[in-house]
Amino acid sequence: MSTTDAPPIDEAMIAILRGVMDPELGDNIVDLGMVRNAYREGTTGHVTVALTTAGCPLRATIKRDCESRVGGLPGIERVRLHWDELNAAEKARVMERARQSARDRATPTQVPANARVLAVASGKGGVGKSSVTVNLAAALATRGFVVGVMDADIWGFSIPRMLGMEGRLEARPPAEGEERGKIVPDSQPVGNGLLKVVSTGLLVETEETALMWRGLMLAKAVEQFLHDVDWGELDYLLIDMPPGTGDVQMALARLLPQAEMLVVTTPALSAQKVAVRVADMARRSHMPIVGVVENMGAFVSPDGQRWAFFGEGGGERLAGDLGVPLLDSIPLEPAVSAGGDSGEPVTGKAGGGAAAEVFERITERLVTEICPPVDMGTCTARMDGPIPITLSPRR
Ligand SMILES: Nc1ncnc2c1ncn2[C@@H]1O[C@H](COP(=O)(O)OP(=O)(O)OP(=O)(O)O)[C@@H](O)[C@H]1O
Ligand SMILES: [Mg+2]
Repeated sequence: MSTTDAPPIDEAMIAILRGVMDPELGDNIVDLGMVRNAYREGTTGHVTVALTTAGCPLRATIKRDCESRVGGLPGIERVRLHWDELNAAEKARVMERARQSARDRATPTQVPANARVLAVASGKGGVGKSSVTVNLAAALATRGFVVGVMDADIWGFSIPRMLGMEGRLEARPPAEGEERGKIVPDSQPVGNGLLKVVSTGLLVETEETALMWRGLMLAKAVEQFLHDVDWGELDYLLIDMPPGTGDVQMALARLLPQAEMLVVTTPALSAQKVAVRVADMARRSHMPIVGVVENMGAFVSPDGQRWAFFGEGGGERLAGDLGVPLLDSIPLEPAVSAGGDSGEPVTGKAGGGAAAEVFERITERLVTEICPPVDMGTCTARMDGPIPITLSPRR
């Protein structure tokens, strides 16, 4: 195409593509200079990405991220990815840029760039965000993943109780070049994997003293969780979001541009306002929504009767309104709340019941389809020289 008839670069697309990380280079593909073009043709968004090498194993991940982000923009129905390869001079520039941004990042987050970050959010409180977070985390860990759980509900934390963790977070001695030691998450082996948990509930003495944190700015606390915690290796980071919208979402989006949102809702149909709120939250934070999970679905009593206490169809309606898949519907089940109270998620063990089965199905969809773990592959090996990626401290 000659330059005269080239459609204009779409700034909204560029803005949202800043959330697509090249996990290996530790920066987003726009700032790395890998996005050659981004424009609209009717309702189709076209994106041209130049890779370091055509056979880059991260290609599938980058494709999926570009599609889900651009596809969520208003007015875009389809996304076409076009591939290109960086030439030698461009490759050198990308490498320099990656090195530069690694150096510039004065306060890098400690979350490795390859970690899949899922913020579990909802349009209103009490729908089961925390329950979904801990059960999915346990199910992921059981499959052998290293799963971080960040309790972003700074005042109303419930993660430690729900996971039966009572440990106190402590700082390790500062490593070379660090002013002070990073906080070590409370970890707990689950199945073949590991849970690494950070919550203000592990910083303060009792659940009651949570009030002491009232003066703390929410966004600041979230920032600390990302900067001052030595997360180490992570396959997934699940973030239990506080009810409501605002500061925390914005802080997260700024600090972890790769974060995606999983929305939890009840089956109540009267949720139009909720849909608007969630869509607004996602739009303002540039966080793509990967799917809806319906919780507190119909309870089936031992004699086989269905009791739809909270109505039916809300998950499907919200997913339809948001244009994302409904991942599944978790039934209302006493075992889920009992497990929350006793600190034992229903997932990750035999005989967990109907809700546990649904959590397992959702986990399966997450790891195979919705947000599969990032296989780091070996693009950089073919490039000239290693890059000091301070983003991914490996232990
Ligand atoms: N599927 C379920 N079956 C039975 N009880 C459930 C289910 N899901 C959640 N609960 C219970 O409902 C209550 C609210 O759940 P939870 O704390 O997970 O919601 P939340 O969205 O995190 O709330 P908040 O907005 O206050 O953070 C808890 O007591 C929990 O045990
Ligand atoms: Mg909660």
